[in-house]
Amino acid sequence: MSLLNVDLGERSYPIIIRDKLLQEPSAWHSYLSSQVLVVTNETLAPMYGQSLQEDLRAAGLEQVELIALPDGEAYKTLETVNRIFDVLLEKRFNRKATLVALGGGVVGDMTGFAAACYQRGVNFVQVPTTLLAQVDSSVGGKTGVNHPLGKNMIGAFYQPQCVVIDLCVLDSLPERELSAGIAEVIKYGLIYDATFFDWLELNMDKLVARDHDALAYAIEKSCHTKALVVAEDEKESGLRAILNLGHTFGHAIEAHMGYGEWLHGEAVGAGMSLACDLSVRLGWLDESVKTRADVLLKRAGLPVHSPEGMQPADYLKYMAVDKKVLDKKLRLVLLKALGEAVVTEDFDHAALDETLKTYCQP
Ligand code: NAD
Ligand code: GLY
Repeated sequence: MSLLNVDLGERSYPIIIRDKLLQEPSAWHSYLSSQVLVVTNETLAPMYGQSLQEDLRAAGLEQVELIALPDGEAYKTLETVNRIFDVLLEKRFNRKATLVALGGGVVGDMTGFAAACYQRGVNFVQVPTTLLAQVDSSVGGKTGVNHPLGKNMIGAFYQPQCVVIDLCVLDSLPERELSAGIAEVIKYGLIYDATFFDWLELNMDKLVARDHDALAYAIEKSCHTKALVVAEDEKESGLRAILNLGHTFGHAIEAHMGYGEWLHGEAVGAGMSLACDLSVRLGWLDESVKTRADVLLKRAGLPVHSPEGMQPADYLKYMAVDKKVLDKKLRLVLLKALGEAVVTEDFDHAALDETLKTYCQP
């Protein structure tokens, strides 16, 4: 078992990483209260949700309810969060309630947001079931929903009591979802940890084959980096923005295609390739690093190209409403070296145009 800590003073919390944590909730039910609402989706309720509900009831918790939300990014909305409030009120949950987010980033982001709002804030525990959620979205307290005019535009910073990472749930994850999670793992190597990037080059085949030892190492390394960055800059006033490498391009791809068409991690994978390309064009990054990144992304089953038909103007339209835009200036996360990211508005826009042209078929 591995135990990490997200160091945020009185809001600090542990990340527990181990096989079979879902089957053995006694390892973490001290983080729960006597009133628990398990929030999951319609896919995961029969796979993991109902048995977790039974196990928590058997452990003697006073009230354990479950809600299965519709599955998919398209349902990451205020309307869906309202369904969580409906159950909390109908079942008379009080301020000591704990919400358990059992699912990927979509369930985790909505459950955290519901926890932040219900009776002005109740506890919640993250039980991430996708690799992407285990290495990224469950850690750091970003919660929220999409708005038709922008992704993740409505939300709150709200930290969980604990993050429970069971490696076994990854065995049932669809292949495309596994690859999408590996994109965020590669991100940590690119932005922060060149040695980890080297390790990924040596061990990518094991990760793709779901070797639990390799996955445990990659998840621990990723969570360790995320925890360090979040501890330094919880509300993204500076350093935390480096976690968005490839995301500005990626969000444009997701919005252009319609949410859910390209998975978030796939769009981020392609976006990181674009960010590396731009960094090379600016003369900041050695071309060999961009080549290594593209090879690694492809080995993980990720795209390193734009969606068919997407044009530079499509990117620029969506990039203009990115959350990192300040005073109308586009800010991007770029690389100065392998393992060294910068967040900057100070770059030659002609180079950005060249990158976009190169990645878009006329
Ligand atoms: P997701 O939550 O949509 O899950 C992907 C799919 O996998 C779903 O169909 C889900 O039902 C299924 N699934 C989940 N676990 C499974 C399992 N163990 N076995 C079988 N199927 C399983 O997608 P995601 O990639 O986990 O999360 C993407 C979301 O996370 C996006 O909304 C993104 O904005 C958000 N996100 C948030 C943060 C953050 O810091 N809060 C960071 C990154 C991404
Ligand atoms: N996924 C980016 C962040 O948590 O800040």
